[in-house]
Amino acid sequence: MDWKLRLLLLHCFLSFTVSEKSFEIDFKNNCFRKDGEYFRYVSGSIHYFRVPPEYWKDRLLKMYMTGLNAIQVYVPWNFHEPQPGVYNFEGDRNIEVFLDLAATIGLLVILRPGPYICAEWDMGGLPAWLLQNQNIVVRSSDSDYLRAVDSWFSQLLPRMKPRLYQNGGNIISVQVENEYGSYFACDYNYMRHLYKLFRNILGDQVVLFTTDGNSDKELKCGTLQGLYATVDFGPVLNITQAFAAQRHIEPKGPLVNSEYYTGWLDYWGSNHSTSSPEKVTQTLYDMLEIGANVNMYMFEGGTNFGYWSGADYKSKYLPVTTSYDYDAPLSEAGDPTDKLFAIRSVISKFQDVPHGPMPPATPKYGYGFVPLRKIGELIDFLDDLSPYLPMKTSYPLSFEDIKQYFGFMLYRTHLPTDVWDPTPLMSPLNGVHDLGYVLINGVYQGTLERDSVLMISVTGRKGDQLDILVENMGRINFGINFNDFKGLVDNITLGSYIMTDWEMYSLNIDAVISTGWPQNGLHMRHQKKEGVNSTVPAFYSGSFLVPGLPQDTYLKLPGWSKGQLWINGFNLGRYWSSRGPQKTLFVPGTVLNATFPNNITILELQEAPSKTYGLFLERPILNDTS
Ligand SMILES: *[C@@H]1O[C@H](CO)[C@@H](O)[C@H](O)[C@H]1NC(C)=O
Ligand SMILES: *[C@@H]1O[C@H](CO)[C@@H](O)[C@H](O)[C@H]1NC(C)=O
Ligand SMILES: *[C@@H]1O[C@H](CO)[C@@H](O)[C@H](O)[C@H]1NC(C)=O
Ligand SMILES: *[C@@H]1O[C@H](CO)[C@@H](O)[C@H](O)[C@H]1NC(C)=O
Ligand SMILES: *[C@@H]1O[C@H](CO)[C@@H](O)[C@H](O)[C@H]1NC(C)=O
Ligand SMILES: *[C@@H]1O[C@H](CO)[C@@H](O)[C@H](O)[C@H]1NC(C)=O
Repeated sequence: MDWKLRLLLLHCFLSFTVSEKSFEIDFKNNCFRKDGEYFRYVSGSIHYFRVPPEYWKDRLLKMYMTGLNAIQVYVPWNFHEPQPGVYNFEGDRNIEVFLDLAATIGLLVILRPGPYICAEWDMGGLPAWLLQNQNIVVRSSDSDYLRAVDSWFSQLLPRMKPRLYQNGGNIISVQVENEYGSYFACDYNYMRHLYKLFRNILGDQVVLFTTDGNSDKELKCGTLQGLYATVDFGPVLNITQAFAAQRHIEPKGPLVNSEYYTGWLDYWGSNHSTSSPEKVTQTLYDMLEIGANVNMYMFEGGTNFGYWSGADYKSKYLPVTTSYDYDAPLSEAGDPTDKLFAIRSVISKFQDVPHGPMPPATPKYGYGFVPLRKIGELIDFLDDLSPYLPMKTSYPLSFEDIKQYFGFMLYRTHLPTDVWDPTPLMSPLNGVHDLGYVLINGVYQGTLERDSVLMISVTGRKGDQLDILVENMGRINFGINFNDFKGLVDNITLGSYIMTDWEMYSLNIDAVISTGWPQNGLHMRHQKKEGVNSTVPAFYSGSFLVPGLPQDTYLKLPGWSKGQLWINGFNLGRYWSSRGPQKTLFVPGTVLNATFPNNITILELQEAPSKTYGLFLERPILNDTS
């Protein structure tokens, strides 16, 4: 037998005999050990729920080719349990397919199942139906909350158990809760409850950990005996200082930055956030040099499709944009950026990066102008857009009261008296969550806006119809204001009169659009009133053919103000062209059709331009507040 073969066989034999799969913390040598060997992860965050499933493999491969050996993944509870006890793990929610792809490509997984995840995702991933108990204290040992958490994890965690590294899978560690030290409750019984639950289902072997901001204050309430404490921070000047808080809580064990910020999120109306490759790679280098484990947040940001984006609250309500590009190393569309190559070159100084070329950017195509024609005003289609008869009450109820959790709801009443002089129509207690488009007799009057515009002036006659279409712009995902009810959550007044006798129309616009409306020509009960000149909110539609294979593209809506976009029934998210900084919406080629006309539907809420068209571009515009 030739000596090389003998050596190979010997080697295989040796690795076979020690092939007991293990992943552990070595407290003596301040590192992780994988199968007994020193191990350090260089990881990146990617959210399967922000990337079309057809592209999961492409993104993961690019992460692998950058030299990452792991990915970090959140699991949004509200994405998988839309109604209590109703679970969805199919299609774009098939996390198991996603984890299998990562395994095939050769990436380990750091799993972050929450239950709270923040992630700039609606309510930080918690299901809005929890708010059916109005006084629920989420992220605490509130019994209603814990019951819901237990039943969710009894679905999710058993699916994850066979995927743990010890059990032959690729999940090396599991995070419990998320930045809990930043939450007011500081309820150790809650953390202990989660700890027991995770251990009961996942077993004693798996590394469980927590993540908090790198201050003693945040680590105080976020950590618990038995859960390895890690920290998160962005580019810094002094890496020793940045890890000091972790070392304070964990005097021994691996240094871990669980969220090293490669960029940042955007709010509507604020400037686009960026972080230079130089800045990002400098601290990355410093961390790798001292042997720290790093997860880059985000590595691939993706898109807040549909109604999923969340909001922050910093002295006012700040809704997050549809794009979650994050100025990450892979762009929103999954394209390698200069930052990615700079990161790859830093990683290569410390460990091997795979040979071979980086997969290229996906092709983009500017499909150009598409005329959009007005279909009609929203209020004229009310009976068809509303799955139920309107609900009647004296004072308004919230979305959650009516068990509609996302999108839009219409509140209707009538003027109690003649209003000759302009009179304030007002939400004195700031109870319009989040935007209220006001119409009198079908004519748009203006928009009430949470924390910003609490009143507009109106005139009218006794008995005139007053409509307020209320838009949920995303539930707060960070801080203490989790019970963020939507709709009219307080009374509306006209002058000093409290408006009463409301009819509330729950709207399921997505269901109607998914049937092919309005392009299929189905006539809905169109109840246009004679002599009424309604304008907005209104639906517009257009279609375009794709020459050849569908490509990724970006839709700009020039002159349009604020609304929602669907293509071929897929809800691509909100646009707010009048505010920015995002001026184009990412349209993945996966929603386009090569053979049939592609059908665009938009719901414009505030003001349509005089020339109504959309413009498909080959590149995004994410930084324009003009
Ligand atoms: C970083 O901070 C530590 C502790 O405060 C200090 O000892 C060290 O000199 C600093 N390093 C640099 C490069 O400034
Ligand atoms: C955005 O950036 C511009 C130019 O740097 C600055 O003048 C403006 O105040 C910024 N706007 C906001 C909302 O921060
Ligand atoms: C509206 O006002 C009425 C009468 O003052 C009050 O009973 C009710 O609680 C108020 N509703 C809300 C949601 O504030
Ligand atoms: C767009 O609508 C037209 C008219 O209803 C229909 O024939 C076509 O199949 C639709 N396109 C797609 C991609 O479904
Ligand atoms: C509707 O518009 C027409 C033409 O612009 C105008 O004559 C009419 O007064 C308007 N009606 C209402 C109710 O505003
Ligand atoms: C294209 O649209 C047609 C008509 O709606 C549909 O039957 C077909 O499945 C679509 N093809 C793709 C690839 O989406």
